[in-house]
Amino acid sequence: MRNKTLILMLLFFALLMTPVGAGAQSKADVVDGEGHQWWQHAVFYEIYPRSFADSNNDGVGDLKGITSKLDYLKDLGVDAIWITPCFPSPQVDFGYDVSDYENIDPMYGTLADFDNLVSGAKNRDIRVILDFVVNHSSDQHKWFMDSKSSRTSEKRDWYIWRDGKGPGKPPNNWVSTFGGPAWTFDPSTHQYYYHFFYAEQPDLNWRNPAVKDAMFDVSRWWYKRGVAGFRLDAVDTLFEDPGLYDNPIVGSGKNAYGDPIEENKSNTKLPEVHDALRGLRKVADESGAVLIGETWTKDVAELKQYYGEHSNELQMPMDLMLTKLTFSAPVFRQHIAGIDGAGGWPVYVISNHDIVRSYDRYGDGQHNDQIAKVMAALYLTLRGTPILYYGEEIGMKTTPPTRKEDVKDPIGQRGWPKEKGRDGERTPMQWDGSENAGFSKATPWLPVPPAYKTHNVAAEAQQPDSVLEFYKKVLKLRHTNRALLDGSYTPLHESDQNVFSYLRSYKGEVVLVALNMSASPQKVNFELGKNGFSSANSLLATPQSAAQGNTLTLEPYGVFIGQLSH
Ligand code: NOJ
Repeated sequence: MRNKTLILMLLFFALLMTPVGAGAQSKADVVDGEGHQWWQHAVFYEIYPRSFADSNNDGVGDLKGITSKLDYLKDLGVDAIWITPCFPSPQVDFGYDVSDYENIDPMYGTLADFDNLVSGAKNRDIRVILDFVVNHSSDQHKWFMDSKSSRTSEKRDWYIWRDGKGPGKPPNNWVSTFGGPAWTFDPSTHQYYYHFFYAEQPDLNWRNPAVKDAMFDVSRWWYKRGVAGFRLDAVDTLFEDPGLYDNPIVGSGKNAYGDPIEENKSNTKLPEVHDALRGLRKVADESGAVLIGETWTKDVAELKQYYGEHSNELQMPMDLMLTKLTFSAPVFRQHIAGIDGAGGWPVYVISNHDIVRSYDRYGDGQHNDQIAKVMAALYLTLRGTPILYYGEEIGMKTTPPTRKEDVKDPIGQRGWPKEKGRDGERTPMQWDGSENAGFSKATPWLPVPPAYKTHNVAAEAQQPDSVLEFYKKVLKLRHTNRALLDGSYTPLHESDQNVFSYLRSYKGEVVLVALNMSASPQKVNFELGKNGFSSANSLLATPQSAAQGNTLTLEPYGVFIGQLSH
């Protein structure tokens, strides 16, 4: 008996002493008592590090800058930050051309700064997600340098090298999504290499097991360092058909870069992508980490595939279709019904560093702040995980350059004026009304838009009806209301052309969300009595939106969120 107790005690201590890497998360941390994963309850926030906060006043944001804003993020209601690439890079595509997957670019700081950021975040219950550029590296990565050095180099097959069809003729007709041919000729080895994006971003050869293993190891390396997951870049483009068939040309027009418009039939969304995702997921599961996908899909059926047949691929494929919708109740209702019914956990995004900000995408020029609040109430109260893009919460707008010579994003330089590039949605975070919006004491790498005078964190924190204060209130509700956290989604009044309304219900708790997506006042009768409820008690509403008995009155672009009671 005594022996048994001794063995049990030894086992207990052995468990206590088992080294867990800084990144490994305990089961209790990742799943709650009812089986909800941490990322299902979390609010994610995307940070474009160049533009968030500049601690050393060189005009470019950095990791210490992010660390200095953790209290702000905590107060806002953020549980996880996704930092777009901050690894060493020649910055041709502002970090999406990685020259070393296991380090930090000096422009952003050091690995020690990264560790500080992770521990500072951890102290505030904020997790850190990195951006994993899986499809391609920089042409300055040592793997590619070796690959390019000779046809027989060890890493030749780590990238996609092919003979041309003849002098000056690439292997096929594929064009780069960033303009020009997708093949670049290397005069020293007399072969072409393939790049879906810029020539400085050669595609890795995921058919080579050594590449796969190296990339899996990169992810392990960061998990051990405390990273809670990755946003996987450009997953659609991981594989190419080995037959290298020409892509079909769609119509006779040309795109902004003057290239024929192609359907990327043989170089995107190949079934093998899912094998790679399953592999990455297996590694992520070793550390309880989450994988978010940059999943551009044409419809819900395609999005569904990214969860994996056995939920063994991405936990969080992003619904990027949402960013393409027009601002209308029937359009959103129909889309959300599809996503919610897809069987996976929805992931809602309304903007990011590649997409025009939602503030001006949906704004009508008159009610932009109100519309921003409707959008906040929408994507923050749906069943699913929202990913906020920095600045959405203060109503930052896209401010594209007005002259070609000011453009920083190479696709803007190549495609001007049809394609102005993505500078407009990457401008510095607007912290206050001081010079450079409090982002930096030096001239920022992109100009601060004039709107910073009215839309900045410091000013909005003082205005109870600001976009920022509205975001904070919805996020607070979302964290504390069980129906909003875990409840099912039921659309209401499905033929209403103006008001998008739905219920979120969890174990008898029911919350009604009603959003007036029109410029005119609306009255809706919810027949609460018929459904066994006596009233809708306001949890959060815009000033002239309220429930009285069965009737809900909504001002133009009004929001009402109420708890139903019996
Ligand atoms: C998607 C990223 O979001 C974008 O910014 C980048 O240019 C491409 N992938 C290439 O990595």
